[in-house]
Amino acid sequence: MSFSLFHSGPHLGLGTHRIETERLVLRRFRMTDAQDMFDTWTSDAETARFMRWTRHEDVAETRATVSYWVRSYRFGGYEWAVTLKDGTLIGSIGIMDISEGELSGELGYCIARPYWNRGYGTEALGAVIDYMFDRVGLNRLEAYHAVGNPASGRIMEKCGMKKEGICREKYRTADGLADCAHYAILAKDVRPRRTNPRDKA
Ligand SMILES: CC(C)(COP(=O)(O)OP(=O)(O)OC[C@H]1O[C@@H](n2cnc3c(N)ncnc32)[C@H](O)[C@@H]1OP(=O)(O)O)[C@@H](O)C(=O)NCCC(=O)NCCS
Repeated sequence: MSFSLFHSGPHLGLGTHRIETERLVLRRFRMTDAQDMFDTWTSDAETARFMRWTRHEDVAETRATVSYWVRSYRFGGYEWAVTLKDGTLIGSIGIMDISEGELSGELGYCIARPYWNRGYGTEALGAVIDYMFDRVGLNRLEAYHAVGNPASGRIMEKCGMKKEGICREKYRTADGLADCAHYAILAKDVRPRRTNPRDKA
């Protein structure tokens, strides 16, 4: 699949295509990912703590999630498997609730615990923001994080997203209904350099 360098008008149905960053490959999920995903993060209560799903007890639950994503690709769904260059599956990132009228969408992501704090979340988020603005043509991307999960807010900030407020008891997490910080970025906003997100230049 190739893309033109400059996007001309919204292309909301583009869907999930391969993205390569300095250290990561973002690609479509396939059913064979379910076992790795279960072993690496969906069965881990700590990784799931601030997500809107509870930890999976059985790989069948993970298969159902992957199956939903794989079927969504037929309809232009946006959900990437985040992998290291050697193919190791370390997480997922996608867009929910795209609004055609407002050209907006909500980001959601999850990196497996063994890979936290190495800059991978920032690298994946920055790449998907670029893709959704420059290739798909969205105007606004939003995300929420439970206030008890500041690492998620930190990666939003590192990718140029701005905090717009606190939404009280917005999402149900493992800790109950959580107050959530609301962040957003517009296509016209400055996006920090992300070639190496661990650079603190
Ligand atoms: C949130 C998440 C995606 C971050 O991914 P990651 O790959 O660890 O992110 P990065 O390494 O790029 O950056 C993490 C940043 O958070 C900071 N951080 C980590 N723990 C923190 C804490 N308790 N308080 C404040 N900052 C924290 C790190 O120091 C780093 O910032 P820095 O580069 O300025 O030092 C990952 O922890 C995750 O998937 N968690 C479980 C699922 C989840 O919470 N998803 C998001 C739901 S909104």
